[in-house]
Amino acid sequence: MNFMTRRSIRKYKDMPVEKEKIDEILKAALLAPTGRNSRPCEFVVVDEKNLIKEIAGLREHGSTFVKDVPLLIGVMGEIGKSTTLLADCSIAAFAMQVKAHELGLGTCWVHVNERTAPDGRTSEEFFRNLVGAPDKFTVMCLIAVGYPDEEKPAYTEKDVNWDKVSYNKYGNR
Ligand SMILES: Cc1cc2nc3c(=O)[nH]c(=O)nc-3n(C[C@H](O)[C@H](O)[C@H](O)COP(=O)(O)O)c2cc1C
Repeated sequence: MNFMTRRSIRKYKDMPVEKEKIDEILKAALLAPTGRNSRPCEFVVVDEKNLIKEIAGLREHGSTFVKDVPLLIGVMGEIGKSTTLLADCSIAAFAMQVKAHELGLGTCWVHVNERTAPDGRTSEEFFRNLVGAPDKFTVMCLIAVGYPDEEKPAYTEKDVNWDKVSYNKYGNR
């Protein structure tokens, strides 16, 4: 995995993602570490164009690009199943982003948790209703996945801010 070339992609080719690749991505999420091995996460894979267009309305801002993505994976956590629920969901989500990048796909995190839909409902409720998920699940995010139709520059060594790292005592670089 090359962390320098991973970038958030918001424009995708109108091309489906192969089932084998989707399975590889899901495997990364299903095997991701969770607090006390509680495995509270569930995933909803959405590849129906009309449903994707509806889901794109789940946020007031920041999700308009979603209407044209070929694939969305909703990352949900079962409330009460883990004391580290949001961390568990986040790790699973990022594991999918890393695996997708390794497979030559682009991704973007679309935040859902603690966001509001234009109709006043929470974005979580909006998503749960559209996919028929029970409300025992919190919805952390959607991961948009597809073949990139935009070029983003890779990170360079200049982007790596070593000032964020201390050794042994805070501030020791
Ligand atoms: C917790 C989290 C929430 C994010 N929410 C959104 C979002 O709602 N919409 C979006 O387009 N990008 C979202 N992003 C992507 C970030 O904007 C992106 O990672 C950041 O600008 C750095 O760009 P890069 O991923 O290309 O390195 C989110 C990323 C994270 C980690």
